[in-house]
Amino acid sequence: MAGSPNVVFVLGPPGSGKGTQCANIVKTFDFVHLSAGDLLRAERSTPGSEYGDLIEGHIRNGTIVPVEITCSLIEKAMKESGKNRFLIDGFPRNRDNLDGWQKQMGDKVKEVYVLLLSCTEEVATERCLKRGQAGSGRSDDNLESLKKRFQTYQKDTMPIIKYYEAKDMVRSIDANCNDKDAIFSEICKLFDEWKS
Ligand code: C5P
Ligand code: MG
Repeated sequence: MAGSPNVVFVLGPPGSGKGTQCANIVKTFDFVHLSAGDLLRAERSTPGSEYGDLIEGHIRNGTIVPVEITCSLIEKAMKESGKNRFLIDGFPRNRDNLDGWQKQMGDKVKEVYVLLLSCTEEVATERCLKRGQAGSGRSDDNLESLKKRFQTYQKDTMPIIKYYEAKDMVRSIDANCNDKDAIFSEICKLFDEWKS
């Protein structure tokens, strides 16, 4: 990795549009998008992975995989990209994620801020159920898993957001409306400083 990599964490409840908006950001700004959930799903589906069953259990249950696994996948992907600006989506999701990250990566990266996409549980649930019906193939886009994912978000992820808020590092965007372009316009205002 060239220089000290810059990291923007992207958080928000399931269905808040993290993946969609990260895809938009990389088209306009020079960032690499790494989704913790996508990295875990890929690891789960890798034949012979010793963590496959453990990861799938957490995904279905809406709980959080131990940080040693997730952080190593993120660090490996960062190194493989050869780039030095990252959107890390869906991480850190709980105290264990945060502590493990700081231990493993704290000295190696510069944390810029947390982009928070906020929306109500009602809006987010509807989006995830639609995504499931449209064939997302995700084993957790069903009402039972979604309820657990929201519980985890409230109980485990909100304290992490509060932690970054206390450091004045949260940039919050209202992601309730279904106009993805309008939401992206708001994000662009934040990311203007990254225009080359
Ligand atoms: O972010 P996404 O909705 O894709 O995450 C799906 C699932 O992956 C989470 O509900 C959780 O079980 C797992 N995950 C995790 N640790 C993370 C991110 C995701 O365990 N930091
Ligand atoms: Mg996602």
